Amino acid sequence: MALDIEPGIAAEGNPALIKIIIKEMDGGTIPFERFMELALYHPEHGYYRKSGRIGRQGDFLTSPAIHPMFGWAIASWCEWIWQQLDEPDTFTIFEPGAGEGALGSAILDWAEARENNFSQSLRYIALEPNTEGTDSRIQWLQENPSPVLNGIVLANELFDALPTRLFEATERGPAEIHVRWDGNNFVEVRGNITVLQNVPIKGRFEINGKAWPLLETMCGLIKQGGILLADYGYEEEKLWAPWRLQGTLSCFYRHTAHENPYRHVGEQDITSHVNLSELETGLQNFGYEQLGPIPQHEFLTKLGIGNLVESARTDLGNYFERRQAFQALTDAGGLGKIQILAGLRGIKGTAPGFEGDKTYE
Ligand SMILES: C[S@@+](CC[C@H](N)C(=O)[O-])C[C@H]1O[C@@H](n2cnc3c(N)ncnc32)[C@H](O)[C@@H]1O
Repeated sequence: MALDIEPGIAAEGNPALIKIIIKEMDGGTIPFERFMELALYHPEHGYYRKSGRIGRQGDFLTSPAIHPMFGWAIASWCEWIWQQLDEPDTFTIFEPGAGEGALGSAILDWAEARENNFSQSLRYIALEPNTEGTDSRIQWLQENPSPVLNGIVLANELFDALPTRLFEATERGPAEIHVRWDGNNFVEVRGNITVLQNVPIKGRFEINGKAWPLLETMCGLIKQGGILLADYGYEEEKLWAPWRLQGTLSCFYRHTAHENPYRHVGEQDITSHVNLSELETGLQNFGYEQLGPIPQHEFLTKLGIGNLVESARTDLGNYFERRQAFQALTDAGGLGKIQILAGLRGIKGTAPGFEGDKTYE
């Protein structure tokens, strides 16, 4: 006997979340940005509220999840900043969007192994509203703390995970994309025409309205030191190139990339490329000397990540593991194309990894 096995809205993702979104729509529409916010960050059912999303068991890989080598390289950059500030007794690393803390753990391990005072001076603070990791050396905060004198702000793939507004260019100007429930699926509808300067006149594009205020907050966390940002993104000219008709929004579900944010609702990552020009202007505006952006493969190579592979040659298992990680982290078509952007305040000298960058010419 055949039973009624139709899954209903469960076929579209997390049914509890879908019901909440439909209720908020109240028979009408919500802007795409709000849909993305609920899908990723609803306080109970949002994608990022559950642990295990990032990594081989999850939906996608980030650099810290590949191997601690990434964190060791970043740790050496942080130590350089600490040295330039005359090795202060207290040095704070803030990491907004730390996820479950893989980067922090690698940095703290690396520092502990050094024969200097870097480790003693370090305080590591994860500013992460959605999850909490298990490394007890990291302090987890959901609210922004008071600014410190000396420190660093690190963020890996934070800005590309922020909810964005979505637009479609029309002959009358850009129309904001809204989302409604048609009884079976979430579908898009064009909202009002919006007045926006210097945006594409063809195709779809995203505007990240949350990046600027978040960057401003991050820039205010330290009085002197550095900011290091790693994100998929382009400067505006490339981001909004006339041939890019579909924008940059993409989704990751069980290591498969696709472009439909209305499937696997609450069970898949949704991301968009960052407008690097905006972050560059922001760093300058908020009082930093801006360095980069340069691709991650170039940055890590300049920091000497290749040496970490060579130094493991006597232990074949370790060697092959590091070699594989090196290839993934520096793959110019994958993680290696992530862009590294930095800001310095109160620091003199050429920051490691940025030698030869146009900023120093
Ligand atoms: C793509 S994940 C990256 C996690 C980690 N940095 C990594 O590289 O594995 C983005 C993270 O940013 C966090 N996040 C989103 N909005 C945030 C905000 N406004 N402030 C701090 N963290 C935020 C999310 O909860 C999520 O953990």
